[in-house]
Amino acid sequence: MTKKYKIAFMPGDGIGNDVLEAARIVIDEGTDFNAEFIPGDIGWVFWEKEGDALPERTVEMLKETDAALFGAITSKPNVPGYRSPIVRLRQIFNLYSNMRPCKAYEGNPLNYRDDLDLVVFRENTEGLYAGIEFYDTTELQDVKVFKKFDQKKTTVSCRVFTEEGCRRIVKKGFEYAKKNNYPTVTLVHKANVIRATDGMFLRVADEVAKDYPDIEVWKQNIDAMCMQLIKNPQNYGVIVTTNMFGDIVSDLTAQLVGGLGFAASASTSDSFALFEPTHGSAPKYTGQYKVNPIAAILSTMLMFDWLGETEMAKKLEEAIKINLKEGKVRTYDLGGSSSTLDVAKDIVRIMNK
Ligand code: NAI
Ligand code: MG
Repeated sequence: MTKKYKIAFMPGDGIGNDVLEAARIVIDEGTDFNAEFIPGDIGWVFWEKEGDALPERTVEMLKETDAALFGAITSKPNVPGYRSPIVRLRQIFNLYSNMRPCKAYEGNPLNYRDDLDLVVFRENTEGLYAGIEFYDTTELQDVKVFKKFDQKKTTVSCRVFTEEGCRRIVKKGFEYAKKNNYPTVTLVHKANVIRATDGMFLRVADEVAKDYPDIEVWKQNIDAMCMQLIKNPQNYGVIVTTNMFGDIVSDLTAQLVGGLGFAASASTSDSFALFEPTHGSAPKYTGQYKVNPIAAILSTMLMFDWLGETEMAKKLEEAIKINLKEGKVRTYDLGGSSSTLDVAKDIVRIMNK
């Protein structure tokens, strides 16, 4: 038996429930993970019921836990007063690192190539998503460069980088590369155009890289990177980048290895972490147990790893690999007709063999 953990369990909306139910089957029936799972209210349902998609009681509960497993939430554009609970969680818990592994598992018919093993580290709290925005430039009139714009017809979204923000995400990437024997770290930027912020990102990254002399450092402009990831994705290992570039590039890399059904993520600070499949709530599939639970199950594997339950993580990954290689129990996205829970049960069968 492992140490007893406290895990926040937050399925959220729609298929978040289907896939986290599958993850729980795998945890409860396939491992001896010793945890108290504490349910957490989050999502559109709570926005409708109580006017808050992330009730304060959920935040308080999370503070008492070791880590969180999260499904997905529904959100709708142009709803006055609505704030994304995920963005809020990142800010409240300082979840500055978003990690998304993209591995081509043998037998996955959706692999773009079979030799891919990339991991994207995306800065998760700053950059263009810092939330510093102006819907006109009235407040900015003291800054000379804004005077030439029509105040009422100009909007501004600020891209904010701090040295510390850059340093800690780059360090995460290098540490991961070192621990997992990736020979390269690729820093993705656009420093030739966005000179202040990306210039600093690269400067700080160069300083961090000095502590990792065995790892080769590559630098790539974001646009060229997108092209290279289609042309020669097998060349890359760890990729480290800033918030918006990481958001975009990680969807691209996810698609190289099977898309949303396989895209797991870890959002971490130095003391807390939230694990989630990156897909949304897919309302049209809600409660039908049709969607692929592997992204949620891989997110569970990342949680085991982060908690230090390395053997458990390895065993779970092996079982997922065998399920895919055998190719008998698979969901619709892989051309199969098995249910979400059938896949979980098949993984349990393999783990208990
Ligand atoms: P989505 O990811 O929910 O689904 C898009 C399509 O991808 C689905 O219709 C389905 O065909 C496929 N898909 C998604 N997950 C799958 C899985 N596990 N297995 C197989 N196929 C899968 O994205 P969409 O439709 O743009 O958004 C639906 C809602 O989810 C929106 O309200 C959106 O705001 C929210 N959303 C939430 C996210 C989160 O909670 N992290 C992330 C993205 C969207
Ligand atoms: Mg995204």
